[in-house]
Order: sequence, then structure tokens, then C-alpha cells
Amino acid sequence: MKYAHIVGWGAYLPKKVLTNDDIALMVETSDEWIYTRTGIRERRIAGEKETTATLAFEGAARALAVADIHPSQVDLIVVATSTPEYIFPSTASRVQDYLGAHRAGAFDLSAACSGFVYGLDMAAQAIATGSIKIAIVIGAETLSRVMDWEDRGTCILFGDGAGAVVLKGSSVPGGLLSSTLRSDGSGGELLTLPAVYHNPVPMLGPEYLQNGHGDNTIKMNGREVFRFATKVVSDSIEVVVQKAGLTLDDVDLIVPHQANTRIIEAVAKRLKLPMDKFFLNIEQAGNTSAASIPIALVDAIHAGRLHPDDNVVFVGFGGGLTWAAGVIKWDVTPPQVSLADREWQRARYIWARLRSRIRKLSRRIGARLLGSPTPEASLRDVEKRGKGARVQGGKGERD
Ligand code: COA
Repeated sequence: MKYAHIVGWGAYLPKKVLTNDDIALMVETSDEWIYTRTGIRERRIAGEKETTATLAFEGAARALAVADIHPSQVDLIVVATSTPEYIFPSTASRVQDYLGAHRAGAFDLSAACSGFVYGLDMAAQAIATGSIKIAIVIGAETLSRVMDWEDRGTCILFGDGAGAVVLKGSSVPGGLLSSTLRSDGSGGELLTLPAVYHNPVPMLGPEYLQNGHGDNTIKMNGREVFRFATKVVSDSIEVVVQKAGLTLDDVDLIVPHQANTRIIEAVAKRLKLPMDKFFLNIEQAGNTSAASIPIALVDAIHAGRLHPDDNVVFVGFGGGLTWAAGVIKWDVTPPQVSLADREWQRARYIWARLRSRIRKLSRRIGARLLGSPTPEASLRDVEKRGKGARVQGGKGERD
């Protein structure tokens, strides 16, 4: 079972569309400037009740439906994201709960816009060793929540969404043929998103925020990132194709991270490949970071761009700095799933939510019976202690 094949795929974009014209009402820019410099016309913005985990769940549920796989068969869920709601519980654990994938392990992976390809490689290796058989790899982001909406150098680029694939072990050669994962941390400051400060702990107090902390928005040196991207994308495509024992002529489609059309044009020129070897959907989705490759993959499938036995290259790059690429032999014919089956699959998720609630309730009842504090009481206690610590800290400074 050492070959990891993609057997299902799914994507979810929030309903709300934010056009370039909408952004031009917020910062000094124009549709023409944004489109000519990036290739983006519009992006999606998550609704108030949507989170990275709910978007990821939608993508994963669709991917399982295509694969006709029951959530209980899933061994591992990997969510590549830079916008988790919590450091823990991980987004992947929330998705595991939403799906009712009760036999699965789950973890988040942080490799910025390269995260999906990193996740694909990790899951495929776990399949190759025989440690697992079925994995869901998801890229999901709510970047609109970490945008500085006054910075026209970044807020024009990013959007929200999620995409997922189901990987399944098989003894039939194919699936992920080769991959390369790379990083250059010395360039980390070119693209940053601070963590943790979102809800500063009460002990640190407002002074902490005034000292320059607490701005958890994306900062970027666009020009340098552009230069870095054109080089590493072309280099890693060459490396990964060679590793798979192929040449560029054998590649049928490249699904790159959707960051900027001009980056891909520069890569095409460097590799002397026609632009139609690259699949782009950046015009409608913008840069959805870790979600961009699986979303583009799903759009490519719907556009009829993938055929049996095609060699497909995924290539991602971004914060870290990180970059990664993989070659997939596209060899899947998805089973025909009837409408009734799909309805039945949806009903499973309603049951999964209900079961999760029952578990929460039974945990609470158990805690009451044992006399341990409920999660709400624990939180109140922490807040009380936090206030006390702040008062003490204030006294110390005056002394
Ligand atoms: N609208 C209008 N003008 C803008 C603007 C906007 N949204 N953003 C920047 N400008 C202005 C700048 O202020 C600057 O003006 P100045 O010459 O008067 O100082 C001018 O345009 C050129 O700025 P620069 O930053 O050099 O533009 P650029 O051609 O490099 O384009 C990006 C900016 C962000 C579109 C481009 O650098 C880029 O896409 N980089 C890669 C980013 C990326 O892909 N990041 C994600 C990686 S995962």
C-alpha cells in the first residue's frame, strides 16, 4: 500500500465577494492597478460565523464525498493554515470533530503558502511507511481576519477559502511520485504574521500592546518576495520533475500557488514553458495562501484540465521563507456517487455534531458529579487571577 493516490477533492469559498472596486473605496488604489500588477479581480471573505475550521470542514466533506469514503475510515487529518482560530485545539481537531472522523489523528501544519504541499508530502510518507492508509490534507485560511485593511500593499492580495484532497494508499504504482520541501529562515522577515497577541493574556495588560506588540496583521516586502518566488518556483519545479524521473515535456499541468500572475509569467519564461501549462484561478479567488493550490486543483478538474495518466506538478512558496513542490500521477476515476448518497453523507455530519454535543454534555455532567470545575468556571478563575496579577504588577512598577 505504499503509493499515496489522490482519490477525492473538494473546495469551499465563502459567499461574500470583495472586488477590486470595493477595495478602492477603502485604500488609494484601482481595479486597473491591482489587476495589471497581480491578476486579481476579486476575492472571497468569510462570513461572521465562518472560521478556518468551518471552511476546512466544507472542503474536507466534499473531498470525502467525491472519494465515497466514510469519515470513520480516515486515519489522519492535516490542516495547513496560518490563520487557525486557536493554537490549540488545532483546526484539524475541530475538523475531525465536525466530520465525526473518530479514528483519525489530527494536527495543524505551519508552512504558510507552501503548507498544502508540505502536508501532502507528510501524509504520503505516512502512507508509504504503512503507518496509515487514508488521510485528508486540507489547506484553509481566513486571511481577511489578519489583514491590515489600510495597507494597500497587502490587503489587495489575499482572500479566504479552503481546499482538500483525500489520499489513499494503494499497491498500484502512481500517486505522489516525488516531492521537495525547502526553507530559508534567513528571509523570514520578508513576510510575517505575528501569533498569540490576538487576545493578549490579562497579565500583560494594555501597556504590552502599546509597546508595539499586538499587531497581528500580515506585513510584507512585496518586491523581495516577488524576486524570491520567481527563482524558487522555477528551481523546485525542475528538481521535483527530475526526481520523478521525468522531463518538463512530460508535465501536463502545473498547479502553482496563486500569488501573482506576473510571478507565474516570469516562471514560465524561465522554464521556457507556455502559460497554458499553468492553471490559474487567481482572478476570482486571490491569494488564499495554504488553500490556493487545492482550490485551484478543484477548479482545474471542473474545467476539464486533468486527464487519466497526466503528470501534475504542485508548487507552493511563501512565508518562512518556505517552498515546496510535488509531482502527482493523476490516475483516479472517482466513483459515481448518487444524489441520495450525497444526502446521506450530509446527514452523517449532522449526527457528528450531535454526537460531539452529547460528549461535551456528558463531560460536563461527569465533572459536576466529581466536583471538578466546569470549563466556564475555570475560565472565570483564570480571569480573576489575571486581574490580581495586573494589580500586583502595577504596584511593583510604582515602587
Ligand atoms: N495601488 C496603487 N499603488 C500601489 C499599491 C496599490 N494597491 N500598492 C503599492 N502601490 C504603489 C507604491 O506605493 C509605490 O508607489 P511609489 O513608487 O510612489 O512609492 C508603487 O506602487 C510601486 O510599489 P511596489 O511595492 O514596488 O509595487 P510592485 O510593482 O512591487 O507591486 C505587489 C506590489 C505587492 C503587487 C508585488 O510586489 C507583489 O505581488 N509581490 C509579491 C507578493 C506576494 O506574492 N506575496 C505572497 C507570497 S505567498
